[in-house]
Amino acid sequence: MKVRKAVIPAAGFGTRFLPATKAQPKEMLAVIDKPLIQYSVEEAVESGIEHICVITSRGKSAMEDHFDQSPELESFLKQKGKTDYLKQVQKISRLAKFCYIRQKQALGLGHAILMAEEFIGNEPFAVLLPDDIFDCPVPAVKQLKDVFAEYGSSVVILKRISQEETKKYGVIKPEQVKPRIFKLKDMIEKPGPEKAFSDLGIIGRYVFNPDIFEAIKKTKPDHRGEIQITDAIKRLLDKEPVYGYLFEGQRYDAGDKAGFIKATLKLALKRPEFAEIVRKSIQN
Ligand code: UTP
Repeated sequence: MKVRKAVIPAAGFGTRFLPATKAQPKEMLAVIDKPLIQYSVEEAVESGIEHICVITSRGKSAMEDHFDQSPELESFLKQKGKTDYLKQVQKISRLAKFCYIRQKQALGLGHAILMAEEFIGNEPFAVLLPDDIFDCPVPAVKQLKDVFAEYGSSVVILKRISQEETKKYGVIKPEQVKPRIFKLKDMIEKPGPEKAFSDLGIIGRYVFNPDIFEAIKKTKPDHRGEIQITDAIKRLLDKEPVYGYLFEGQRYDAGDKAGFIKATLKLALKRPEFAEIVRKSIQN
C-alpha cells in the first residue's frame, strides 16, 4: 500500500531551548530562513506525501498560520513588486493538505502519534520529528518508503552512534539482512554504553503500519510518565517484524542549542550567498 500520509509531532514544550520557546514553538525557530518544521514538511512532500497531520498544542498556532494562505502579506508583496518573496510565500501554503490535532498534555512521542489514529485510518504512514533536518541525495522519508515497499513492514531510520550518544537515543539489537538494512531483534531507550546492544541508534524518521496504534495503546508510560515510541515499537515486534535502515546522507539534530547552531552553520556553508561570510566570521 502507498504511503501517502505523514504525522509531524510538534506538541512538546521545547524546554532545551528556553527561554526562546517560552512563547513561541520550537518548531518555528528558523534555521537560516525557514522554520524547523518546514524542512520536515518539504522532505515529506519531496518523498511523495500528500496529507500531513501536525500534532500541536496550546500556544503553537504560529505553525498553522505558517502553512496557511496569507492574503494581506501576498497583496502587499504583489503591490511592492517583490515577486520572489511572493512566490516563496505562496508556495508554502500549497505544499500539502494539512490537518492539526491537539495533544492536550505532552505525554510523550508515542502518545503524540496516537493522536493521529483517526486521521491515518488503516494505512501505512510516515512520522517526521522536526528536530531532525536531513540533507540527503534521496529524501530520508523516501529512503524509508523504498524499504517499506520491499518488506511491507514498519521501518525506522538508523544512524551509527558513539558510546556517549547511547544516553540520547533508542538503540537496537540488529540482525543484518542486506547492506544498510537490519531486522530489529530488540531495542532499548537511552540505555547508556553498558546496556547498549549495538552502535545503531534510532533517529527522527519512521514509516509505520497502522498496527503501531494498538502497540502504543498497550505501552505503559515510562518513569517520567511519557509513552515512548521506542517502547511501542518493541511491543510491535511481538506481533510482526520491524526493520531499520541506515540512511544515506547528512542529518543535523537541531533539537538543542548546540545542534541548532551546527545545523545553521553547515546549511549556511552550502548556500552560495552565505558561505563566504560564515567562513570569514568564524576565522576572525
Ligand atoms: P523532543 O523531546 O525533542 O521535544 O520531542 P520537546 O519535548 O519539545 O523538547 P525538550 O526535550 O523539552 O527540549 C521530539 C518531537 O516530538 C514532539 C516535540 O514537539 C518534538 O517535535 N513531542 C514530544 C510531542 O508532540 N508530544 C510530546 O508529548 C513530546
